[in-house]
Amino acid sequence: MCGIVGYVGDRDAAPIIVDALVRLEYRGYDSAGVATIHEGKLYVAKDAGKLTEGGEPTELQRKLRSLPGKIGIGHTRWATHGDPNEVNAHPHVDCEERIAVVHNGIIENFMELREELESKGHRFVSDTDTEVVPHLIEEGMKEGKSFFEAFVEAVRKLEGSYAVAAICVDEPDVILAARKESPLVVGLGDGENFLASDIPAILPETNRVIPIDDGEIVVVRKEEVKILDANTLEDVTGSKEVQVVEEDPHKLERGGYPHFMLKEIHEQPEAVAKTLTLERERLFEMAEELVKGDYSRLCIVACGTSYHAGLGGKYATEMIARFPVDVQIASEFRYVTKNLVDEDTLVLAISQSGETADTLAAVREAKERGATTIALTNVVGSTITREVDHVIYTHAGFEKAVAATKTYTAQLAALYLLAVELGRHMGEITDSEAEEYLRELESVPEKLERILSWEMERELAVMGGRYKERPNWFFIGRGPGYPTAMEGALKLKEITYQHAEAYPAGELKHGPLALIEEGVPVVAVVQPGGVYEKMLANVEEVKARGATVISVADESDDIVEEHSDHVIRVPSITEEFSPIVYTVPLQVLAYYMSVARGIDPDYPRNLAKSVTVE
Ligand code: M6R
Repeated sequence: MCGIVGYVGDRDAAPIIVDALVRLEYRGYDSAGVATIHEGKLYVAKDAGKLTEGGEPTELQRKLRSLPGKIGIGHTRWATHGDPNEVNAHPHVDCEERIAVVHNGIIENFMELREELESKGHRFVSDTDTEVVPHLIEEGMKEGKSFFEAFVEAVRKLEGSYAVAAICVDEPDVILAARKESPLVVGLGDGENFLASDIPAILPETNRVIPIDDGEIVVVRKEEVKILDANTLEDVTGSKEVQVVEEDPHKLERGGYPHFMLKEIHEQPEAVAKTLTLERERLFEMAEELVKGDYSRLCIVACGTSYHAGLGGKYATEMIARFPVDVQIASEFRYVTKNLVDEDTLVLAISQSGETADTLAAVREAKERGATTIALTNVVGSTITREVDHVIYTHAGFEKAVAATKTYTAQLAALYLLAVELGRHMGEITDSEAEEYLRELESVPEKLERILSWEMERELAVMGGRYKERPNWFFIGRGPGYPTAMEGALKLKEITYQHAEAYPAGELKHGPLALIEEGVPVVAVVQPGGVYEKMLANVEEVKARGATVISVADESDDIVEEHSDHVIRVPSITEEFSPIVYTVPLQVLAYYMSVARGIDPDYPRNLAKSVTVE
């Protein structure tokens, strides 16, 4: 939520900052701003609105680009305190307009800090929590402290979460920044240096980065970066590892696709194939270790789409390895379920970004209670990777669209590998059964390619256009079809703004059936297997009440057609792994419905890619 950027060097800062902000827009896009210093003067431009519309630069972007100066900071906002408007947009400044600050996070004690500063004569103009920071620095400097001393003192007064960066006209060659519970990385250049919330923002400029840890302060000059412990001010730069990021920056572009989401949907075969290949050995070892560790329970914690992947993993693990898995929404776990965790519990946290505040908090709670923790994430060097005992990566490449797609199928691939190996090590399946499962997994990328064929995409685009005005949708499934239904419903509501609910199909007659009437769309996930007949009966129930039934079914299924208005046919896959295949056409359907409704699927309203606040 919110992205921050900084640049200092010999080039014009504003265009570099704006380009990085555009790459960061997935973190928030309700307003944006830049501050630079040029010839002893602070320049600030900001406003509500996005930096790009339909791939083209907006007026706001042009305004921000034009600021002069070789040093600056920038911000793209996802509002927490105060409406998204010009005044609340970052950067925020002090009374004399000599200091500018950008911030990501929430300053919990801002009200008391603000009252104290107002009583000393500071004038506030915005409704934001951030505005206290430039005034705190100003107050310190009025008392005779240097910019650095005043910044350190200000940061020490903040409670809550922050990645914060500041510049000041009195010291026009330095950016000061600090981090607590919000991501921040430094990018190292030659005669220039960068700051950003996430690596992709600065990757086209440099691939040498240092992730900043909680409780650190960064001093960034064009020739030098210093990292200090915020409490002791000890210089810890030497102990920090410079990471060299191998990702191809060109992959961060839309590459001919109209939206990042469609590009990322099409990258799924590759994401799954890479995860299956590159993570296989590590998952095999991990399964062995887990079995040796003799844990009494596996608890998966996650949010949103990652939670749905966790559910997919649960079905596969319970069906293949017969090992009980408890899947918890991280924001619930962190306050309630945590009390059931002890040294015998294995906690697997799933987070594509590795920065989700609730998932990180759940990991910390679990560690405090002695649990062994594992992270499944897509982002190398993300906060979660530094906090857990073991890390498993998905190899999906950078995912920019707010709606998660390729990271979801890659998460499922990793969880399925783990399920198969657990089953083998626990003696629940034989070696040859395990090999059979692995062959099935290896066939998934090719199956996804078939789903993503032009003909299939066109069929789904037509369906999206046809049903785009239906305001209430139901998604139903049984067994592994249930997480598929949940993920299908989440994609639809997230990017089409139509109401969609997912239900285990057996629950329909316990209430939701009352809502089924003529023309209500019901998406039924009808994978072959143990619950197939039951699903058909549920499909019949809704059909008899006038629902428009869209079934997702096996390509060889010749029964489901009689019960459905439309059948989306997918390649055969064993029931245990069905979510990895059956979810994909539902992503495509949601995408085309979003476009047909005139929505930009990459930037759905009110949402942000990385949810770093509670
Ligand atoms: O980065 P994470 O996987 O921890 O994110 C969790 C959710 O915020 C995320 O999956 C969200 O639900 C997506 N926008 C869904 O498309």
